[in-house]
Amino acid sequence: MAEEMRVVLRNYGKIDPLKIEDYINAGGYQALEKARSMSQTDVIEEVRKSGLRGRGGAGFNAGQKWNFAFQAQADQKYVICNADEGEPGTYKDRTIMQGDPHSVLEGMAICGYAIGASKGYIYCRGEYPYVVDLLNQAIDQAREKGVLGDFDIEVRMGAGAYVCGEETALIESIEGHRGEPRFKPPYPPVSGLWGKPTIVNNVETLASVPVILEKGGDWYAGLGAASYPGTKVLTLTGDVVNKTVIEVPTNTTICEVIYDFGGGIAGGKAFKAVQIGGTSGAFIPESLLDTQIDFDSMSAAGASLGSGAVLVMDETRDIVDVVCRIAKFFEHESCGKCAPCREGTMRLHKLMNKLNAGEGSAADIALLNKLGRVMSVACLCGLGQAAPSPVLTTIKHFQPDYNAKLQ
Ligand SMILES: Cc1cc2nc3c(=O)[nH]c(=O)nc-3n(C[C@H](O)[C@H](O)[C@H](O)COP(=O)(O)O)c2cc1C
Repeated sequence: MAEEMRVVLRNYGKIDPLKIEDYINAGGYQALEKARSMSQTDVIEEVRKSGLRGRGGAGFNAGQKWNFAFQAQADQKYVICNADEGEPGTYKDRTIMQGDPHSVLEGMAICGYAIGASKGYIYCRGEYPYVVDLLNQAIDQAREKGVLGDFDIEVRMGAGAYVCGEETALIESIEGHRGEPRFKPPYPPVSGLWGKPTIVNNVETLASVPVILEKGGDWYAGLGAASYPGTKVLTLTGDVVNKTVIEVPTNTTICEVIYDFGGGIAGGKAFKAVQIGGTSGAFIPESLLDTQIDFDSMSAAGASLGSGAVLVMDETRDIVDVVCRIAKFFEHESCGKCAPCREGTMRLHKLMNKLNAGEGSAADIALLNKLGRVMSVACLCGLGQAAPSPVLTTIKHFQPDYNAKLQ
């Protein structure tokens, strides 16, 4: 396997995650100390200068987001670590939290200091009860050592709803309501948890923060792609030789990910497609494999980096069948709050089922295309907006697979 660049996973496998002393001996909590010796605005400027953009899917500049919350006037502010990781095929946040939980706590505490928040929550995927235990142990140790100062962290557990990874549905869920997205604006940095300024950042984003404070924003900005600097933790799954988690600079190409790190297609078969970014990610054909994985290059190719799941499919995979299963997933996961998603995901699934059963026509494909385009702009949140992406990109790049199933 090609050599990784480990920034977020710098301590992975090297320290005992259950021993805070190991983290401290590896230089842990020094970045927090350094941050506290700086002004809040200098900390935010350092993060902004690093160019760090959210690793949870939307790719928003972290420093800029922190600045919105810093400037908002309130008696209480919050930091939320989004550890919902409900995306099938994604386990990068689990890997980070299991291998180095204190890097996430330290990143949260630095954010708390920068924006003026004394309370943090980690919203952890319900299917990760062992991670919740581990996080609670790490928080207890940090409290005992006093390293977090007046910043406190509580872990909340999700209950298995994919939509609760969406930041406002997540906030609703922490507040004890049904996990449904809110209308935006206002955005959470202005009005989030209990109406207070709230930063919601992904696990990987927050775990990147201590090293940025330690080595400087300029150092980080020099890694990987200029418009989306740093590294990305990816999970390689599907028909690839090495099914594993890797961390690579963001200017790595998809081809390098699959062949240099993934070891190529398993069983000596040929490549067919790769879906990047999770269930709602685009299906990428061979002709686009030289695309860099950074957020902007992926967008330009009509795809998204999303959470960093890389699902490789070999020549034997039935694309229409795979997309049909994905459509079923979205019908099931739609929260039903807005009509375009509630009805749209159901119709997408029905039409895909029809085509997959060999009972569809060219008119059904045209209808899918139209419905998908409407949903991508009409749905309330990213779930419904992105749900048609596998349908739309496979109709675009894998048309022969659809034609082969027409009536
Ligand atoms: C349906 C849906 C699910 C999401 N799931 C997650 C998730 O599991 N983890 C995550 O960090 N972001 C998830 N997001 C993105 C969040 O809404 C938000 O953009 C992110 O947590 C912000 O953190 P970042 O700026 O550090 O990326 C999801 C978005 C949508 C629409």
